[in-house]
Amino acid sequence: MPDSTRSFMSALPADVRITEVGPRDGLQNEKELVQTTDKIRFVELLAEAGFPEIEVTSFVNPRWVPQLADAAEVLAAVPRRGGLIRSALVPNGKGLERALLAGVDKIAVFTAASEAFSQRNTNATIEESLVRVREVVGGAKAAGLPVRGYVSCVVACPYAGPIEPAQVRTIVDRLLGIGVDEIDLGETIGVAAPADIERLYDGLQGVLAPEASTLHLHDTRGGGLACAFRAMQIGVRSFDASCGGLGGCPFAPGAAGNLATEDLLHLCHRSGIRTGIDREKLLAAGRYMAAALGRRLPGRSFAADATGASASSATTCAGS
Ligand code: HMG
Ligand code: MG
Repeated sequence: MPDSTRSFMSALPADVRITEVGPRDGLQNEKELVQTTDKIRFVELLAEAGFPEIEVTSFVNPRWVPQLADAAEVLAAVPRRGGLIRSALVPNGKGLERALLAGVDKIAVFTAASEAFSQRNTNATIEESLVRVREVVGGAKAAGLPVRGYVSCVVACPYAGPIEPAQVRTIVDRLLGIGVDEIDLGETIGVAAPADIERLYDGLQGVLAPEASTLHLHDTRGGGLACAFRAMQIGVRSFDASCGGLGGCPFAPGAAGNLATEDLLHLCHRSGIRTGIDREKLLAAGRYMAAALGRRLPGRSFAADATGASASSATTCAGS
């Protein structure tokens, strides 16, 4: 291997942790109701692919997100096996009550670095959303559950435009003060380029190390993989992604789905980075959901497979 290639690759991690958020972030934006049985099978297939954690659903107000009104049924039907963490999004005390009854393993709370988005997404100011977060974190801790804390709009807001890293820093600091175990940085509208990711983490120095964060990229403009790669070089070791690139947020108009998990796997495995996930099984889960939805999923690997161009690429490479 030439020296230049070796030093370029040496900045990359040996392992990356990927949380599959397709069943939640992916499906929440689907207009037509997906059958509960299809959601359950989708999660089961994803579990077979070997994810350490799947965000299975969300216990938000079903009037706001009717698609996920069956959260309790879906969660309760997915077995807790092989160390799989079945997490769910929870907006308030009512949501926590429902999630605990359904047997959730981990709670994800959420707020935003943008006032405008907080209002549209949760009918609350950032301060009000943090009051709810405090209540949920308290209840989750009392139940012995770990908590992930999302901050949306870490680069830009669909209503207010660019967001300064200093504002993200303030919200991250508040969430850590409340006691969340993990910070998840949401690039909600998929506008970031690698330079934005650098600015974001520069702005978080002293509050949140890249190694301690999770990065949640949406891929609206095709910058997701480039941002993930830059983030890995900076030190980020944990990412969210969505099978097939499903999804978007009903309260972030124009935003497309998350970075597609199989595309991220392709990048990782071809770069010698281990994920522990079986890409063929992941693709099988994606094909199942594509059939349930009656359309092809947007992730590029699915298009490549359809044309026979995949050449079983990443699966034969080091490190799945
Ligand atoms: P609200 O309607 O303002 O709440 O919702 P409320 O307290 O006024 O309650 C109104 C009624 O709803 C009451 O019932 C409550 O009991 C009921 P009533 O007395 O009228 O019969 N209610 C609930 N029922 C079931 N489950 C609940 C619940 N809460 C209230 N949890 C709330 C406030 C925050 C709940 C609402 O705004 C909401 O659910 N928002 C969530 C919206 C959402 O799901 N957005 C997408 C997820 S975030 C995202 O995608 C970003 C992320 O991916 C990261 C990124 O990409 O940046 C995470
Ligand atoms: Mg999201």
